[in-house]
This record gives sequence, C-alpha cells and structure tokens, in this order.
Amino acid sequence: MSDEASKQVIIFDTTLRDGEQSPGCSMNLTEKLQVAHALKELGVDVIEAGFPIASTGDFEAVRAVAREVEGPAICGLARCNDKDIDRAWEAVKESKRPRIHVFLATSAIHREHKLKMAKEEIVRRAREGVMRAKGCCPDVEFSPEDAARTELDFLTEVVLAAIDVGAKTINVPDTVGYAVPVQFGAVIRHLREKIDGRAVISVHCHNDLGLAVANTLSAVAEGARQVECTINGLGERAGNCSLEEVVMALRTRHDFFNVTTGINTRRLYPASRLVANVTGMRVQRNKAIVGQNAFSHEAGIHQHGVLQHQATYEIMRPEDVGFARSNLVLGKHSGRHALRARVEEMGYHMSEDAFERLFEGFKGLADKKKEIYDADIEALIEDRAQEATALWEIVSFHISTATGALPTAAVALQKSGGERFSDAAVGDGPIDALFTAIERITGVNVVLKDYEVRSVTVGEDAQGEVSVEVEHGGRSWRGQATSTDILEASARAFLLAVNRIALRNAGSEAAVAAAVNDVRP
Ligand code: KIV
Ligand code: ZN
Repeated sequence: MSDEASKQVIIFDTTLRDGEQSPGCSMNLTEKLQVAHALKELGVDVIEAGFPIASTGDFEAVRAVAREVEGPAICGLARCNDKDIDRAWEAVKESKRPRIHVFLATSAIHREHKLKMAKEEIVRRAREGVMRAKGCCPDVEFSPEDAARTELDFLTEVVLAAIDVGAKTINVPDTVGYAVPVQFGAVIRHLREKIDGRAVISVHCHNDLGLAVANTLSAVAEGARQVECTINGLGERAGNCSLEEVVMALRTRHDFFNVTTGINTRRLYPASRLVANVTGMRVQRNKAIVGQNAFSHEAGIHQHGVLQHQATYEIMRPEDVGFARSNLVLGKHSGRHALRARVEEMGYHMSEDAFERLFEGFKGLADKKKEIYDADIEALIEDRAQEATALWEIVSFHISTATGALPTAAVALQKSGGERFSDAAVGDGPIDALFTAIERITGVNVVLKDYEVRSVTVGEDAQGEVSVEVEHGGRSWRGQATSTDILEASARAFLLAVNRIALRNAGSEAAVAAAVNDVRP
C-alpha cells in the first residue's frame, strides 16, 4: 500500500445486510434498490447488499443491486462453505466490481459452543473458504467473526492463513460490541504489524456498549483503512457503527486522523431520511449528525454565540451534512417552478412522474396548511415514494364516535389493478376501528405493537407523523405516514405496514420492483 493510498479510508456500507437484520427493519426489493442508489450517490466504496444464501428474497435483492448500481463494489456475504459462496457469487457476478465476503467465527466461545470445531479445523475451513471465493472473483474479504473476543495469537494465525490464500481485505469484527477503544486499537496495531501491507485492514463494530464509533475511530488511528458501517447505525441489537458519525468525525478531525473518505457529506441527511422512512426506524431527535436537534441551539447564550459567529458552538455546518438551512416558505400560490427549485436545492432528484405526484400532494397540503416548510416537503416526498409501490391504497374512510356509542370506521380501499373493496368495523377507539376495518378488507391480521404520533413542523396546522409497528408471522413490520389529519396519517401508516406484509405474502416483490424506482434522495 503506498503512503498516499493509505490516506483514503474505504467506506463499506452494510445497511442492506447487517442493518436489515435489525428487528422490524426488513426492506422489500424496491426499497433496497432505492437505498442502494442513495448509497451510490453518497459515494460509498462498497455496498454489502445482502446474504444471498439466507433467502430467495435476499438473493434477488443482491442480484438486482449488482445489475443496476454501478460505481461501488457490490458485495455478497457467505459462510465458509461451498454452497454459500457459490450462491453469493451467482448474486454478485453481474456487478462491474463484485466482491465476496466470507466469514467464520474464531473465538473460543463460538468454536466450542456454536461450531464445535478445533482451532486447526477453523484455520483449514477459513483457507478453503477464501480459496473457493478466489476461484470466483479476485476481490475477497475475510472476517474472523467475534474477532474481538478471540485469543490474539489465534486471531493472527487465522488472518495470516486467509491472506496466504488470497484475501485482499481482512475485516476484524467486534461482533458483540465487547471491545473498548484503547484495547481494540492495540489489536489493530498488532495485526497491522503482522500483515505488513499485504491486505487492507477493516473493522466492523457493533454498538452494544455504545462504543461502535469510538472503537472504529481507534482502529483507524492505528491503521485500519476500511470501516464497515450503516446509515443511522442500524444493525443487529444495538446496531453498528453509524456511517454519518464516523465519516463526519474523520472529516471534522482531519487534523488528528489525517485521512479522507470519498463521501459526499451533503447526501448524509437525505440518505438518513430515506433509510428511516423505508425501515420505519425513526432517528432519535438528539442523534449526532442527522437528528432533528443536532444543529439547534436552545440556550440563549448559545444562540447569541452562534449569531455572532457560527463556529462558537458549531463544529460542523448543517449544510455540510445536507440539512437545508432555509427560511423559505412555500404556500398555496407557489407553482411547479418554485416547488421544483426547492426540491432540487434540498438534494432530491425526481423523475417527471414522481414530481407530478409530489406536486399533486403539495397542492392538497397547501389547501390545508398555510405555510409549507422543507420538513413538510420531505415528508411528502417520502410518503409518495412509498405509496408508489403499494398493493392497497386508501380511497376513503369515515369515522364516527359519540359518547356512549362504539366508535365505527367505514373504509374503502383500492387494490393495485383497480378493484375497490369496502368494509366497516367497530373498535375500542376510532384508531382501533380504523385498523380493524383495514384488516378485514386486506385479510392481513396483525397485532399492534407500537403506535406513535409526533409533529413534523410547527404551528397549529403542523403535519403529524404517525409510526406504527405491528407483528405478523413472528416478525415486526413498520409503517410511517404524515398528514395534517392524524386519522388519515394513522390509516396510511397502518396500511403501509399491511402492504409490506401483503407483498411478502403474495411473493410479488419482483413485480413491484419493476413498477417504481424513480425517487432518489
Ligand atoms: O458482526 C459480525 O461479526 C458480522 C460479520 C458477518 C462480519 O456481521
Ligand atoms: Zn455484524
């Protein structure tokens, strides 16, 4: 590795693989393609698009991303066995830059209790896995799973064996989020000395102790030159290293790390919104970089300071991470031109059809709401993008409640293809009645796990964002929608979750994928 090359940190995004493993965060094919395009626009170097052996849906999604998304390397995950590796290769082989990522656990606890393999067998299987993958494509990454809890000598032995047979990237996972920064940095320093430039060192840190970003940065300081991360820090359990946080830390503290990434940081916020929207996993308000409060100053002394000079209390500029800093308000009299200009300034690229759908929604909203802010427009764009792939759409609903009477909802839905269905239901409250009527029409029965409302913008006519989480078939499903009318937002959010289930049940993801893929933040 030349000195110059070693200044660039490779950003390996695993939102579509590890991120998608978060409970309730599964995405359909269309959504995965939308996210993959956003990742490309963001400038990530590698997209881990899935685990092709896991299911037909995973395989199809990896293959679609490999076919459609040019620029980043497209990677498929595989265990160290022939079937997994062949399936991963089948999925990524149409990419211009295919990569296979093979992994095998190395820690004592995994060797003894999960794999029931001795150390020698682990080394042999790791070598065979890398060799099999090398027979398919030159770009092979190897991960000793649970590396952070593996004896250092044995970890070194496995890693060197993988490099001997051709692994070009050695990824060191802290699978259970056990590491602490100084110690993890020392592991990377040790491996770096042993590897001596023969492979890129990568890290993959989970966030169980809230240390994923800190451990990743410590590894970079010790020479790791690939970081594995996800948008909004999605991932198993407490999640992974958050892409936006690690990228902005490297950029803001360039004076300390002296490395760069190829990320267009202005795309961070739109990418975060897209992922929050398609997964239904909302970003906490005070989340670093992309949370709603990340750049707002409440204390008078801070506000005063920022007005005098932005740098007094801001180490990054909101516009650098893609927050539109605009007081421009649109309204009833704003035409197509003004809306298009605003949407483009906010960093969205839309097809003519998608823009027309948005404009229709904008006019409807302007009839109900005097002032339309960026957050309103964002919510509209995201809602329209989701509804474009829906199996069921709301035609109308009517709710009646009165003291002493059972709340009733009458709902009419249209199925894609045109047929209309209607039904009515009573419930414990108006929302319960509404959801029950939707269940009766669609035939999808769920258990409501969570229901939340929050306002998107300010004022009496603010839009409300409703998020619902339901359980069906042993899994969680989410939906999110916005409207000035909370009942309407509730119906649409619930229907989105139901649509996801209905699509999965109908096995029609491929058909839906062909339908719409025209909104990219
Ligand atoms: O957490 C982990 O160890 C993983 C590997 C497959 C890299 O996700
Ligand atoms: Zn992981």
